Amino acid sequence: MRPLFLLFLGAALCYANTDSNQPKIESLMDNVLVLKVPYGRGRVYVNLTCGEAYQNQPVFWKENGVELKPALQGNHVKVLVVELRGGNYSCHQSPDGRYLNHTTILVQPERDNRSIILQETSPEGGHIHCSAPNYKGSFHCTWTRSTDRPMAAVLLVTAERHLEKIPCVLDADGSGVHCNGTSCHNNEEQHSISLTVYIRSYSLLEKYTKSFFLRDIVRPANLPNLRTSDMKVFSWDYPETWDKPCTFFPLQFQVKVVPRGHDCNSMEHLMNTTTLQTQHEISVKIKKFVFCVKAQDMFTNGPFNQWSSCTVNKHEVKCSSDTGLQP
Ligand SMILES: *[C@@H]1O[C@H](CO)[C@@H](O)[C@H](O)[C@H]1NC(C)=O
Ligand SMILES: *[C@@H]1O[C@H](CO)[C@@H](O)[C@H](O)[C@H]1NC(C)=O
Ligand SMILES: *[C@@H]1O[C@H](CO)[C@@H](O)[C@H](O)[C@H]1NC(C)=O
Ligand SMILES: *[C@@H]1O[C@H](CO)[C@@H](O)[C@H](O)[C@H]1NC(C)=O
Ligand SMILES: *[C@@H]1O[C@H](CO)[C@@H](O)[C@H](O)[C@H]1NC(C)=O
Ligand SMILES: *[C@@H]1O[C@H](CO)[C@@H](O)[C@H](O)[C@H]1NC(C)=O
Repeated sequence: MRPLFLLFLGAALCYANTDSNQPKIESLMDNVLVLKVPYGRGRVYVNLTCGEAYQNQPVFWKENGVELKPALQGNHVKVLVVELRGGNYSCHQSPDGRYLNHTTILVQPERDNRSIILQETSPEGGHIHCSAPNYKGSFHCTWTRSTDRPMAAVLLVTAERHLEKIPCVLDADGSGVHCNGTSCHNNEEQHSISLTVYIRSYSLLEKYTKSFFLRDIVRPANLPNLRTSDMKVFSWDYPETWDKPCTFFPLQFQVKVVPRGHDCNSMEHLMNTTTLQTQHEISVKIKKFVFCVKAQDMFTNGPFNQWSSCTVNKHEVKCSSDTGLQP
């Protein structure tokens, strides 16, 4: 009983300590200071330094490129940050002189889990969606900015597994990242990967994290070369990007025939089965139907890829590997 009570007391003291209104100021990266403010409210003084190199010379400050009134001078200054309004503070040799250095102040509200810059993809899915085409170690994550924050910019992305950094490259459109982890082919995957995305909209900074095992996000690419010569036997290939040899990394295929005019997700089906073969012979009597096939890792029962399908209309057949429909 007693140790438990002490534990509770300790937790309460800790909480009281961190609950004070003094914001934490952190240096996130070069030239960026982050104020961690409870609920994003309040008035906070922040100390800025132009740089040791400018100790003995005149220094003039601007906020977002505009001279401050009253003028702010000196190598060491303090600025007042009110509510959520951070800013970009630059120091110069003279009021209109040469740029010397700058510090961007961002505000990260420490409120409950509310976030406003990114949209949730689904209630379970969170804000960041990751997938990998195989077990080699590379993966891709995407996110979606809220419609009222289209200009939000990614400041920093970090990925690591068990203290080992994973190199990542941001997608050109800023709404995804490609990370190049190392293989976990031959061993059981012991440690999860954690991904952290810092994204800003004006001076608001939000931090999003996601933690996952590669084995849970591996999803085969769409099946190439879906074909049929007699409209009875359909065949396809393993995705080029899937791990080899296939005997070590077998895929399992769900095969389905739906009436013409229905999409592959239709509950109405003429046939529905699973197979390990890359071909399947169907025996349906009608002449107009859609043949559908999708794949998942046979051992992990991981995510399926998207349906590939052939639409059969009497003696005409049209096959496509991407119906644009989510599995
Ligand atoms: C800011 O600078 C002043 C003096 O210039 C100092 O007294 C104060 O402790 C500094 N505040 C912080 C948070 O470093
Ligand atoms: C510029 O300011 C940053 C802090 O924002 C500081 O770390 C850096 O040393 C300064 N650069 C120079 C050249 O003094
Ligand atoms: C802040 O201002 C400096 C100097 O004008 C500029 O080089 C820098 O890109 C700005 N940073 C941001 C995040 O706007
Ligand atoms: C915040 O998220 C954590 C983990 O997802 C959850 O345990 C906690 O209940 C959430 N807090 C609030 C206030 O929603
Ligand atoms: C990922 O790593 C492999 C091998 O180390 C390299 O060939 C490839 O170019 C890297 N890709 C990216 C996007 O960094
Ligand atoms: C089709 O079969 C799979 C398993 O092979 C099953 O999970 C799925 O629910 C079935 N679909 C329908 C519409 O019956």
